Amino acid sequence: MFNFCTCVNFKQESCSDEEQHRNSLARKRDLKKSINETCNNPPLTLVSTSERRDYGEDRVINLDAGDPTMYETYWKKMGKKATVVIPGWRSMSYYSNGRSLCWFLEPDLCQQILRLHRVVGNAITEGRYIIVGTGSSQLILAALYALSPPDSSEPTDVVSAVPYYSSYPSMCDYLKTSLFKWGGDAHTYEKEGSYIEIVTSPNNPDGSLREPVVNRSGGAVLHDLAYYWPHYTPIAAPADFDLSLFTASKCTGHAGSRIGWALVKNPEIAMKMVKFIELNTIGVSKDSQLRTARMLSVISDSCEQAGSTSDNRSESFYGFGHRLMTERWCRIRQAVKHGGMFTLPDFPTAYCNFLNQPTETRPAFAWLKCEDEEEDCAGLLRRHKILGRSGVSFGCSPKFVRVSMMDRDDNFDLLVQRISKITAAPNSEH
Ligand SMILES: Cc1ncc(COP(=O)(O)O)c(C=O)c1O
Repeated sequence: MFNFCTCVNFKQESCSDEEQHRNSLARKRDLKKSINETCNNPPLTLVSTSERRDYGEDRVINLDAGDPTMYETYWKKMGKKATVVIPGWRSMSYYSNGRSLCWFLEPDLCQQILRLHRVVGNAITEGRYIIVGTGSSQLILAALYALSPPDSSEPTDVVSAVPYYSSYPSMCDYLKTSLFKWGGDAHTYEKEGSYIEIVTSPNNPDGSLREPVVNRSGGAVLHDLAYYWPHYTPIAAPADFDLSLFTASKCTGHAGSRIGWALVKNPEIAMKMVKFIELNTIGVSKDSQLRTARMLSVISDSCEQAGSTSDNRSESFYGFGHRLMTERWCRIRQAVKHGGMFTLPDFPTAYCNFLNQPTETRPAFAWLKCEDEEEDCAGLLRRHKILGRSGVSFGCSPKFVRVSMMDRDDNFDLLVQRISKITAAPNSEH
């Protein structure tokens, strides 16, 4: 259907720091002028909400979402290597590659996805179709649409083992489709017939490494591998599944670009997923795809330049992420121990084929459990000006709370300080 479309492959252009500075001064001048001239329009915001930060020690720190802002320091250092300029006339078409099953996938992005998986060794890409989505969130819905039998008399149950990613239940149910519905905890799922199990590994929220638990005929498995990257977990073997999902949000930290990708074995499932995205958003932003292609290429370059010894690997993007996460996990464990109010899960150590050394899982979230009589762990943190997400959202007890480990340094420092001061009430018997 899209064969008439030819694919334009172009080089992304970068500009010097001086040029950027001049452009930015000119932009600011123009902006001021336009604000003065257009007093009837709402004022333009010069600083985004995420940049408008309050440095007061009393401020509330919001660690409820998994916003990966800790990677900003790395990307700032990359400067123009990671700067993408897209001229106004480029990527105007809906189409990217008319000959590809995923007709809106930019060839540059496709190449860089294949290259990064090869460099990191975390997924087999041979014999898979690559489908790009507006974040892996869109791909989860596309996959549920594609995996649900269309002629079933009732909606297919979608299950995941507790604690599961808090968005799965609402993603399944908010449109009230007759194709699928949220079926709850995979551990207690007993119904016969078709079902879809989402397996998230490493898991959000608790960082555990997971496998399917239902294992019955008539089921399909969707592997959400958002966190299967060397900064979060040892890469013990390449993922080799029928349908797996990855996202730039957690791989490079560019959550704002909204790019995810699926590796899909079955061509019919792949075509249905493409159809879903076509109906939903008529493809995926080319600008975002090109930016993501550049980020992936910078990461692969950093890994290739670092070479293969464990010392050198620490210089790559994943070396940076691994060092930062290791340091953060060490600090939060110390703070938890000092306060005595919470516990954290333990993680196994395994050999990481990418870093060429044994490493421990260092998840993107801390899954805190209140060991005191306190029943509402999120409420307790809120009283200490820390916003986290209650265990209830993940199908668990309110004695658990999830906080992001991926925020900027200043917020993480405050988290550690505050956690270490939340102490367990002295036992009345002593
Ligand atoms: C397990 C998991 N899957 C999917 C997503 C969605 O990511 P995206 O930003 O690509 O939509 C997230 C985001 O936090 C996640 O934790």
